[in-house]
Amino acid sequence: MGKVADRVAKCLEYVRKRTDFIPRVALILGSGLGDFAEQISISMILDYADIPDFPQSTVAGHKGRFVFGYIKDTPVVIMQGRVHYYEGYSMEDVVLPVRLMHAMGAEILFLTNAAGGIKEGFQCGDLMMITDHISCFVPNPLLGANEDAFGVRFPDMSEIYDKELQDNIRTSSKELGISIREGVYLQLSGPSYETPAEIRMCKALGACAVGMSTAVEAIAANHMQMKVCGISFISNLAAGISEAPLSHEEVKAAADEVAPKFQLLVKSVVANL
Ligand code: HPA
Repeated sequence: MGKVADRVAKCLEYVRKRTDFIPRVALILGSGLGDFAEQISISMILDYADIPDFPQSTVAGHKGRFVFGYIKDTPVVIMQGRVHYYEGYSMEDVVLPVRLMHAMGAEILFLTNAAGGIKEGFQCGDLMMITDHISCFVPNPLLGANEDAFGVRFPDMSEIYDKELQDNIRTSSKELGISIREGVYLQLSGPSYETPAEIRMCKALGACAVGMSTAVEAIAANHMQMKVCGISFISNLAAGISEAPLSHEEVKAAADEVAPKFQLLVKSVVANL
């Protein structure tokens, strides 16, 4: 067994001592959206800290636990708090939770994040369905010996964000009367926010929103043949697009405002799967 597969197996062994829950959907909650987990029908909660050799989330406002439960009839595992590259973890660590949720049984990965809006017309509080991403400014999570148990050495990434799931998000947002934008997400390492010059670069490259997570998780999931979808909420306009200095407090405050419509949409998408 490969090194990472072995690690995942050990984590899974622990999880299985605590629960036999088999999720269909894995949902990762971004900054400020963590409270959503408390609104579903919860079966069981597992702290990351209890899982052997599992990375811990150190970001303020991220709880650091798996919540198992149901959205309508769909069994889900929710990550309340993710692991970021900027916390000093390796990319192997950053995507380990995705690998573990896949090993638990999840076939679909639903990614969410807070992001800075770049595209003209985007406003604070908007939701953006991710249609594609740019991840090449951060290390690829598949670097190193390929572990065939996960997927092939050179995986295709031409359709990371599943078309059917995208349609599902469009349909749900229409039904709910929630307007949703669409666009390309660009991942940078953080933790510093970007300079206006960097944002001009991101814009020239075709990015609509910028953030510090998500794309590498999507790569690892796609490598393992999971179906992936993602929604960014635009917590602020990116540096230089807005005159105001950026702060994590602003991101969290914007999340509080957008949370209700965001939660409605996520619930509806998962319920319609
Ligand atoms: N830049 C990077 N990451 C972010 C931002 C931003 O403006 N807003 C929320 N996450």
